[in-house]
Parts: sequence; C-alpha cells; structure tokens
Amino acid sequence: MTNKVSANNSSDLKSEKDYAKYFETTYQPPSLRDARRRGKEEVNVHYDFEIPEDVKNIGADRKYLIRTYGCQMNEHDTEVMAGILENLGYEATTVDEEADVILLNTCAIRENAENKVFGEIGHLKALKREKPELILGVCGCMSQEESVVNRILQKHPQVDLIFGTHNIHRLPTLLKEALFSKEMVVEVWSKEGDIIENLPRVRKGNISGWVNIMYGCDKFCTYCIVPYTRGKERSRLPEDIIEEVRQLARHGYQEVTLLGQNVNAYGKDFDFEYGLGHLMDEIRKIGIPRIRFTTSHPRDFDDHLIEVLAKGGNLVEHIHLPVQHGNSDILKLMGRAYTREQYLELVRKIKAAIPNVVLTTDIIVGFPNETEEQFEETLSLYREVGYDSAYTFIYSPREGTPAARMKDDVPMSVKKERLQRLNAVVNETALEKNRNYVGEVVEVLVQGESKKNKDVLTGYTRGNKVVHFQGPKSLIGQLVNVRITTAKTWTLDGELEEMYEVKSS
Ligand code: 5AD
Ligand code: SF4
Repeated sequence: MTNKVSANNSSDLKSEKDYAKYFETTYQPPSLRDARRRGKEEVNVHYDFEIPEDVKNIGADRKYLIRTYGCQMNEHDTEVMAGILENLGYEATTVDEEADVILLNTCAIRENAENKVFGEIGHLKALKREKPELILGVCGCMSQEESVVNRILQKHPQVDLIFGTHNIHRLPTLLKEALFSKEMVVEVWSKEGDIIENLPRVRKGNISGWVNIMYGCDKFCTYCIVPYTRGKERSRLPEDIIEEVRQLARHGYQEVTLLGQNVNAYGKDFDFEYGLGHLMDEIRKIGIPRIRFTTSHPRDFDDHLIEVLAKGGNLVEHIHLPVQHGNSDILKLMGRAYTREQYLELVRKIKAAIPNVVLTTDIIVGFPNETEEQFEETLSLYREVGYDSAYTFIYSPREGTPAARMKDDVPMSVKKERLQRLNAVVNETALEKNRNYVGEVVEVLVQGESKKNKDVLTGYTRGNKVVHFQGPKSLIGQLVNVRITTAKTWTLDGELEEMYEVKSS
C-alpha cells in the first residue's frame, strides 16, 4: 500500500502551520497493522531500476551526508542510498555544514535508539535555519512507524522528507519533490513484497562487503518491531546473490557477509526446494577467502546447513545465534518457537560438527515479569553454551508489538541490576575464551590502523575476534598469520609471523 502525503510544510520555518491538514483524508500514516498482514502475493524481482531523466544531474556541485544508526542492514541500505545519490551527481562529505542533503537512516529497535535520532533532528534545526535550502531527510526503520511520522509532522518542521525502508529506490523522485516544493514529502509503503535488483551502491571499504540474501522477517517475536518495519520475508534469487559475491571476489574483496534479518528462513518463499545450506554450499566454491552470515534464528537452523558449514574452507567457524533468554516460559512469551532444551540441543549438534566454532548471541533481560529464577536461567545457559561474546539489552517496549501490551511489574532498577550481572558473566567468559588463544597463531584479515594507535594494525580472526599487532600498512586488506601474546576481554594482542604470511587467493 502506498501512503503518501505532501504536507503543506514550509521549509523556511517561519510560517504558522495548520497541522490539521496533515490528518485530512488524503493522509494515511504508515500502518503497523497493515505491515503485520502477510499477503500471499508473489514476490516480483525487478531489474529495471533507472535514474529518471529529469533528475539526472540534480546533485551536480552538491554534497550529501548519510548518518546511519542500527544494524548492518541499515549500513547496507546506506551504501545503496549513497550509490543513488552519487548517480545523481552528489559528492560525499562528512561535514554537516558542507552538506546539501542530510539523511538520517534510523533504527527503531529500542527506545534509546529512537531518542538519539530525535536528538539529532533537534540539533539539525539550527543548521537548517542557517541554510534553508538544505534537504533534511529521515528514512530507515523509524519512518515505518506511524507515531514517529506523526511526531515529525507535528513537532519537527525542519524535516523536508520522510521515506520508508521499501521506498529507497524512489529516492531520486522524492528528492526532486523535496527540492522543488515547499512541502514536507512523506512516502512510506507499509507493505511491500518486491525486490529491486539493480540498485547502485557505494560500498564502505574494499576489504569486506555485505550482500543481502533476503529482506524482511515473518517471525514476529512479541518484543520486536522489525517484522513491521522491514516487511515480509523475501529471498533474493540464488543466481543474483552468487553473481554479486563473484563480483566482489573479482574486485579483490577478502570477505563477504551474507545479510538478512532471519537468514535461516532463506528460500522458504521459493516454489523450489532451496535453503541457506544450498546457498552456502554454492558460495563456498567461489574464490573469496571468508564467508559469514548474519543473523540466524535457531528455529530454522537446519541439519543441512550444519553439514555444509562443517565443510569449512571459506565458510568461517563463527555463528551468531541469538538466544534472547534462558528460560522456556519466557521464550514462549517472546514467541521464539523453541525451548531452552531445543536451543541447547542445536548448540550440541553445531559443536559436534564444528568443534572449534565460536558462538555469539543476543540476550534480552527484563522481559515483562521476568522472575529472579528465570533470569538466573539466562546466566546458567550463558555459561553452559560458553559463548565468546554477546550483545545484551534491557527489554524496551515497542508500540504496536504484543509484548508492549503485557503488564510489567519488574522495576527498572531490578532490570538494570540484572543487566550488570549478565554483563559480568559475559566479560568473564570472554576473557577466559580469549586466554585460550595465547601462544596460538591465528589468521587475521587486516582491516586498517587501530583507532587508538596509528602504529598498530587491527584485523579480525575467522571467529570475528579483534586482533592488534604491529606491521607495515601494506598489509591492510591482506590475510596474515599473527601469534597471540596477550588476551584482553574484547581484544587480542599479537605479533606478526612474517614467515607465514597467508597469500590471499
Ligand atoms: N527490546 C530490547 N531488545 C530488543 N531486541 C529486539 N527488540 C528488542 C526490544 N524491544 C534485541 C534482540 C535482537 C537484537 C537485534 O536486538 O536481542 O536480537
Ligand atoms: Fe536494523 Fe532492526 Fe534497527 Fe531496523 S530496527 S535498523 S532492522 S536494527
């Protein structure tokens, strides 16, 4: 469904506005309810994206800046938007004052992510006042939420453009509308089942690349907003993915991360038998040294995939396997569709097939009415699995999700204290795990100079651990062997084993 409004919103911030206009019959906000419905309509794949003739040069002598919040999916969308803007003639800048277009690519996953964006919109008001011709756009997951769109319409007239996660390919036209009208342009499609294949991209760096394998999520975990903001599960065709990975290999990339909100559901929407295991089995034959994938859902992680990952080679032995909680009753309330025991059984199978596997996870504490005993089950599961690291979060109610309607009698002080206790276990285990590497030689993909010390290089192991070591800058972008000398909680220090430099294929 297309929801589009051109609100009469003067961008010079001077006029008194009649906000009632935005809520007249022509205006339909993005609808979480519509987004929840999963239609049976076919997924159409389009290969015909083109920059419309009338906008081809609108970016000449102009600059853009995109600020990205949230996950890798958003980072990757930013690469596409940068590609579109550069096709329009815009040049990148990192300085707000130089930009003619600023886009905020937003994240809706937790309330604090949203607060950050509203803070930034507030900051940009002064810049917009000084430079009224600046186009300020809000896109990404927050723009899919009706409450966010309404709040921007009512309180943030400095915003010129709001567009949704399904409207990225429409950026040239929307930008033109925003440039040539004095109105706030809003286009957010609530439900979209299509895939646009040939969008341009400006990739960040030339060592590691992201490749989308699917879009959307149909899991509807009760706490999560993503299925509403990202639409239904749609898989890209294997041949399109394989061609993109081959292209990255041809351009000298050393690593590819296959992306999706729930990559284990890859292929479920095809009318032929093909899953993530099949895809990985084909991609491992491509001459690129490392292949990763994220994010997994334990429920759909099948034996075939485990079998394929066990073949190793360029399929790295790191699996990010969000568990979310260690208690089966809470998992049920979360709608995760597995029990603690089923999760542990999956971990057992993975470890049996890939003995040196590095497992990492996501965990939520303070889900509504979580008891002390239930929380302790998260701690015990963490120790039992022996994760290398984890992202940990305090539950944040998201409007429109089922969990947000659950009454919650756990005080925030208790939730914070539980998070601290969990983080203590996470840190302790991380250090223990890292200590096992001392004295070992690991393969490191060198990403660049360390942020803290320009004389030190930084890279990642196959298991995604950060390694610091001294070496010439010429090693950036290469795979090298490093002997680990010191283990810290989040990083490893080592020395280059020059004799054993790994040649990239
Ligand atoms: N509150 C807290 N954490 C959340 N996550 C997703 N939704 C919420 C929420 N409402 C976490 C999950 C997910 C990660 C990306 O963010 O752990 O795996
Ligand atoms: Fe990514 Fe989720 Fe944030 Fe959307 S809400 S940007 S999918 S982390």
